[in-house]
Amino acid sequence: MIIFKQVKDLTKYLQKQQAAKNSIGFVPTMGALHEGHLSLLKECKKMSKITVCSIFVNPTQFNNTEDLDKYPKSVSNDILLLEQNECNVLFLPDEKEIYPDERSKQKHFDLGYLETILEGEFRPGHFQGVSLVVEKLLKIVNPDFLFLGQKDFQQCLIIKRLVGLMNRNIKIIICPILREESGLAMSSRNLRLSFSDRKLASELFLTLVSIKNKLKSEDFLKVKDQAIQDLETKGFKVEYLELAKKNNLEIVSHFNPREKLIILIAAFLGDVRLIDNLLINP
Ligand code: PAF
Repeated sequence: MIIFKQVKDLTKYLQKQQAAKNSIGFVPTMGALHEGHLSLLKECKKMSKITVCSIFVNPTQFNNTEDLDKYPKSVSNDILLLEQNECNVLFLPDEKEIYPDERSKQKHFDLGYLETILEGEFRPGHFQGVSLVVEKLLKIVNPDFLFLGQKDFQQCLIIKRLVGLMNRNIKIIICPILREESGLAMSSRNLRLSFSDRKLASELFLTLVSIKNKLKSEDFLKVKDQAIQDLETKGFKVEYLELAKKNNLEIVSHFNPREKLIILIAAFLGDVRLIDNLLINP
C-alpha cells in the first residue's frame, strides 16, 4: 500500500492510473476502522483495479467540539488493517492539506429537504461539513466508484445529491450494515461505549426489528411511542425514531406495504450518540 499525505503526489499517481485506464474505487473514512469499513474495501476491490481509502477526521462536520475531541483515533492500527486487506492507496492528509485557510471552509451546498430532517435537524451544519470534505476528496481522487455504508443512510442520499450537483459520473455503491453478534451496528463510536452499555446498545436494533414485525398489524405512531418509552426506561435518550420513504426520506406516519420504507433511529447512551436503520421491503 502506498500512503500519500499530499494532494499533489496522490493526484500525480492517480492520473497515471487513469491514463492506463485502471478503474479507481474510493472508500472515504474518518479512521478507527472496523469490519464495516473493511466490507466496503472488499466490495471496492471486487469492482475496481485501484482501491483508494482516505482517513481524515473532518472537523467541519462536527457540530460539537467535544464530539470531535472524543472521536476515536487509531491510525497505526488502521494502516495495519488496510495493509492486511490489500488496499492499494491510503490518502492520509493533515488538516492544512484539506483546509489550507478559512476561505476553503466557506462553501454552501444546496442540499434541500434532506438536510432539514433527522440527522440534519439534530446536527445542524453536519451535512454541509460532510459535503464540503466529500466534494474536495472526490475532486482529488476522481473515482469511478464510491463506496458508502448504509448505516449512514441519510449521508448516502446527501452524497448522491452532491455528486449530482458536481455533475460527475461516479457510481455510488451502498453496502449493507455490518452487525455484531448482538445486532449492534458496527461503528467507530462503539469504541467509546462501556462494556455494559455495549450490551445494552443492541436494544436499538432489537427495537427496529420489533417495530418492523408489528408494522403490518399495528399503528406505527402507537408502536413508535411505546418503543421510545421502553428505550428511555432502559437508559437511552432518543432523538428521533421515524418511518420514511427509502428514496427521499419523506417522513410518513403509516405503513404502506406497496412502498419501500426505512425505519431510522438516533439515540444517546450516556454521551455516545448512536444511529441505526432498517429497510422495509428493500
Ligand atoms: O461517514 C464518514 O466516515 C464521513 O462522514 C465521511 C464520508 C468520510 C466524510 O468525512
